Amino acid sequence: MRDTISYDQLKCELELLEQEAEKEIQAAGDKETLENLRVNFLGKKGRLSRVLGGMGKLPDKDRPLVGQRANLLKTQLQKLLLERNEHLKTKALSDLISKETIDVTAPPIGIPIGKRHPILKTTEDIVDLFCGLGYSMAEGPEIENDHYNFTALNIPKGHPARDMQDTFYLGEDLLLRTHTSPVQIRFLEQNSPPVRIVAPGRVYRRDSVDSTHSPVFHQVEVLAIDEGLDFSHLRGTVMAFLKAFFGDLPVRFRASYFPFTEPSAEVDVQWRGRWLEVMGCGMVDPSVLEGLGLDPEKWSGFAAGLGVERFCMVRHGIDDIRRLYTSDLRFLDQF
Ligand code: DAH
Repeated sequence: MRDTISYDQLKCELELLEQEAEKEIQAAGDKETLENLRVNFLGKKGRLSRVLGGMGKLPDKDRPLVGQRANLLKTQLQKLLLERNEHLKTKALSDLISKETIDVTAPPIGIPIGKRHPILKTTEDIVDLFCGLGYSMAEGPEIENDHYNFTALNIPKGHPARDMQDTFYLGEDLLLRTHTSPVQIRFLEQNSPPVRIVAPGRVYRRDSVDSTHSPVFHQVEVLAIDEGLDFSHLRGTVMAFLKAFFGDLPVRFRASYFPFTEPSAEVDVQWRGRWLEVMGCGMVDPSVLEGLGLDPEKWSGFAAGLGVERFCMVRHGIDDIRRLYTSDLRFLDQF
């Protein structure tokens, strides 16, 4: 007796195949799995072919019915495979996009960036403002000799003004400069007037430490030599600078004494209800010019020495100079 197979049996197998194929295609997570499923179900030796192989055993009348059904199933599965493939492609793309998206609203990761120290920043701001007025930068050594630090500035040995600046001596003649004024002399030895310079730098004095004193501090020296300069030029320059730096703080000029200027003044700004000295200044003393071989009948000029720490403290409301030297990042980070 020939093996027979009933229409219902084949139909059942096809239905089972359909169910399994649909389930597995929907669950396929990548292209390779999909391709394996295609081969598995629809390939030449796949499950659909095998089911159809059983068609020969069907009664003739049932064959076209099963054939139709099988063809339908084949197209249906091909369609499903295609759709799943498209879905996987879109998903891969959107996964990539969301992985690579930059969330511009996210808080910054906060890479620590170094900053300029407030003293350096203040120095640079002072220098910049004078450069805007036509001055250029000059510099001199921190280790000076007696001549440049004192004698050439009209402070001979035994002069009481030497006591005003308690000095760190490095030997008979060498010392740590007590102010930036020696740069005036060094510059004028190398350059003929007219000159306009600013000279920032570190200076040293044997002061004991308190809230307004430090043995190491910073100054900016200003020097202008030309024909016909007088005190009004000094005052105009200082006022323009102070206004640019501080805005509208009250300013006063107070008569004072420095051996290398005549007349001399100290300049105070009013801060927290008190007058605070921020610089010394004056008209360059004729004897300083003569010492440099310059004719005081032809040349005149003014000079000033600015205390950088004072400018920094007033600008930022810092009440103790020691804060500027303790390298406490919680403090320094604010500037
Ligand atoms: N060198 C002086 C000091 O350190 C400050 C000073 C006063 C500088 C008057 C000047 C000046 O150039 O003209 O105390």
